[in-house]
Amino acid sequence: MSTPLLQALSDLAKPDTLPNPYPVLARLREASPFAEFDGALVVAGRHADCASVLRHPNASSQRGTSLLAPATTRRARERPSFLSLDPPDHTRLRRLVSKAFTQRTVAGLEPRIRAITGDLLTAAATAGQLEVVSQLAYPLPVRIISEMLGVPVEDHPRFAGWSARLAHSLQPGFGLPPDQAQALADAADAASAEFAGYFRELIALRRARPQPDLLSALITAEDSGDQLTEDELIATCVLLLVAGHETTVGLIANAILALLRHPDQLALLQAHPELAADTVEETLRYDAPVQLTSRVARGGLQVGAVGAPDRALVILLLAATGRDPENFPDPDRFDIRRGAAGHLAFAAGPHFCLGAPLARLEATIAVGEVASRIVAPNLAPGGLSYKPNMNLRGPDRLVVEFAEITSAGGLPVG
Ligand code: HEM
Repeated sequence: MSTPLLQALSDLAKPDTLPNPYPVLARLREASPFAEFDGALVVAGRHADCASVLRHPNASSQRGTSLLAPATTRRARERPSFLSLDPPDHTRLRRLVSKAFTQRTVAGLEPRIRAITGDLLTAAATAGQLEVVSQLAYPLPVRIISEMLGVPVEDHPRFAGWSARLAHSLQPGFGLPPDQAQALADAADAASAEFAGYFRELIALRRARPQPDLLSALITAEDSGDQLTEDELIATCVLLLVAGHETTVGLIANAILALLRHPDQLALLQAHPELAADTVEETLRYDAPVQLTSRVARGGLQVGAVGAPDRALVILLLAATGRDPENFPDPDRFDIRRGAAGHLAFAAGPHFCLGAPLARLEATIAVGEVASRIVAPNLAPGGLSYKPNMNLRGPDRLVVEFAEITSAGGLPVG
């Protein structure tokens, strides 16, 4: 790490920066697009540049092919999910899975999401405290994706560790000493192998006895006579399970934190519960749960005024784009009535987040229920800390004090 901008990039991973990376991101956005390592690394932080790269046919998702291939793991290369593939393989695999995540299919999950949210808040009321992450933001999406896939509820504790290790390895290794990068890659390899072994057994069980779940549907899914191979099936299941574990939790926690810090916006939401979906949209813009992604320039790629040569790694600072004043006036203001459409928190183009309708619905219900049922919520002193992940960034602890939690019908619980 030599130049000030490379230093700023590596600062994003520092424990002191994690609670508020936005001043550093603003600096990087204003300097962007810029190139480092003789052009092998290009950084984009402006909304227009990132939106254009995400939709560009020369922007490859096969990150392992870049000149600066980050610490991709051996097993990830052997068994890539479609997140890391380009057309035509990406198109084929995504089409096989996408039916399960349409707006309509997801809307059918609403009663179940409401029931789980209600139960979790009632349990918190009985316990007399709400630690948002462990008591609401984490268990809700994890239960939903596990039920969708058909993963037994008693196996959840095993996934938590594997999933966190895989998520950790997705971070770009800015400034990591080689031995630390290797240790992360080894831990991810081990987690990936454990996941694969687990799903191999579960797939054998479902082949013998199909159930009404997504795993059974994926086993039999066909597209123009094509079926998922066993490795593709495993990579897809791991992708969905990790996405379901590590992203929506950040969205729910970030939204609740922003409301606690902006009591006028919380009061507005309480007076207008129909603004819950807008609150979620504004949170995605204001405090993105996935802070950055990357692409590889295939045969050269223009990023604003900077030309990225073949195989350059292009870092896209998604969280910086949400605060770009060119697109969002007064961008550091949290305003649930702003109409934040057009943010890039779910990316854009062919890899636009497949789980966006599900994440939006889960977060809208959770945030709406918290606003309507928790009386006089406050962030507890010392009640906030962040997990050590600069990319899938979010609190690992968020303690809310409250006067009471009412039942869904408005009566106190407990
Ligand atoms: C707030 C929650 C979420 C956020 C912010 C988020 C964000 C993203 C982003 C930025 C990408 C694009 C990555 C890239 O192309 O480089 C992505 C892709 C993806 N997401 Fe999400 N995600 C969320 C929730 C979910 C959920 C709940 C699921 C499913 C259970 C999911 C499944 C996927 C899949 C399968 C892809 C790959 C799509 C493709 O490569 O075609 N995501 N997500």
